[in-house]
Amino acid sequence: MDHRESTDQDADNLAHIVAFLQRKDVETCFAIHPNRLASADFVLPSDWSAWWGWAGSIGQESKDEPWLNLWRYSVASLEEKDLPHFLSIPQELKTLVDIARQLQLPRSMIHTDDTIKARRGGNSNGMSPKKEHEVERMVAFISERLRESSNVSSKLVHRAIDIGAGQAYLSRALRDRLHFDVLALDWSDVQYRGAVKKENPKGRKRTAPSTLAASAELLPVHRNGSLDYKTVDINSTTLLRATTDWLESTNSDLGPRGGAEQQASLPVLLVALHACGSLTLDIFRALTQQLKLNSAQSVWTPRLAVIVGCCYNMLRPEDRVLQIDRSNGLVLTANHLQLAAQTPDHWGLTAHKLLETSLAIRKVAWRGLLEGLLLRPDHDHSPLPVDPKCEGGSQFRDASRRLGRLNDAAYADWDKFLAAAQQKLGVHLGVSGTNERDAVLA
Ligand SMILES: C[S@@+](CC[C@H](N)C(=O)[O-])C[C@H]1O[C@@H](n2cnc3c(N)ncnc32)[C@H](O)[C@@H]1O
Repeated sequence: MDHRESTDQDADNLAHIVAFLQRKDVETCFAIHPNRLASADFVLPSDWSAWWGWAGSIGQESKDEPWLNLWRYSVASLEEKDLPHFLSIPQELKTLVDIARQLQLPRSMIHTDDTIKARRGGNSNGMSPKKEHEVERMVAFISERLRESSNVSSKLVHRAIDIGAGQAYLSRALRDRLHFDVLALDWSDVQYRGAVKKENPKGRKRTAPSTLAASAELLPVHRNGSLDYKTVDINSTTLLRATTDWLESTNSDLGPRGGAEQQASLPVLLVALHACGSLTLDIFRALTQQLKLNSAQSVWTPRLAVIVGCCYNMLRPEDRVLQIDRSNGLVLTANHLQLAAQTPDHWGLTAHKLLETSLAIRKVAWRGLLEGLLLRPDHDHSPLPVDPKCEGGSQFRDASRRLGRLNDAAYADWDKFLAAAQQKLGVHLGVSGTNERDAVLA
């Protein structure tokens, strides 16, 4: 598939996703927060009536609760979808789930050259297996792309900026294995201190970069790498500035731009692994800005960018608009972004993960039910003696925000949850039992 075909296909996919999100029955699911469902002024959207009763029933035909059965349906293979325990799920819901699955973007792995993995020779130095896997694949992918680009350009890339570097796992891998000079950027002092610790772990000698197994067959390497770390609040402007400053300070031969003796600008690799929310967009903004400069104006040129985004819920509000022709006026809300960060395919990877998912669903449901109780006019809302360690007060409208986090033990059963919530909010609801939970729904 050539570049134009794949761009057209992406635009088509996006148009289908926009149309799906704008369906009335889908739109209402995003528009109404679960905390509103048990309030007296909640009006059931007509599109929900086909499945609302079923969703609130305690599973009868199957031992699974309805949400769990629906989730199982969503991840089932085509053949499994006809199994008897899925028969009770309303067809309207099944159709929504089926369309959502069809619109899912492909998640198949890109092939990379795994020989680099076999050559690592280092230790994981505190990386989780997941992080180690991600770093492995990033390094292999970058190495291959650079090998390709070295065929078309004589100017080798050996400087990299790791944006949102965290504890600099990827930075160190680029330095030690691909012999890059790396600038790691992050705004967090805590991450910086973690990175310093990882660099010099107690009682362990760091292997000198030059003695680590190099990927010499993958990239022609004739040098050692280096790593500088800078704490900076990154946006497109500060990213460009930090990169230029670093290159000028580490390359004394660069000299002022614009002179007759002007050298070509330095090729730079930009990397980001899990660049949260708007950080990813800021990187692309910086990238396009820098690419627009001609080489006489710029100390450096982005040659390659390998960016993995994450945490869409952290996008700044102004970045939540789909600025494309096919957006059809769709504006993403906080609810869209929260849900975009969910990965239902992973919920059941292990029995433990499924338990965690059940707990997360319970938290959402019980907090919604609590909101319903707080808003009921017939309850005694008299303030409890306020625990000085907790936020107190009797303004219920804002209750769920003020409730903040409760620890997992508070969700062991409804009575415990109710007691913990009343204590935290400093109110007395005059209720304590499971009957009250069910009464909210009546
Ligand atoms: C999910 S972590 C990933 C860390 C690292 N790349 C990794 O994969 O281990 C995202 C990092 O980006 C940093 N970060 C997020 N937004 C930032 C910003 N605007 N400026 C600087 N750092 C930022 C956070 O402090 C955090 O360390």
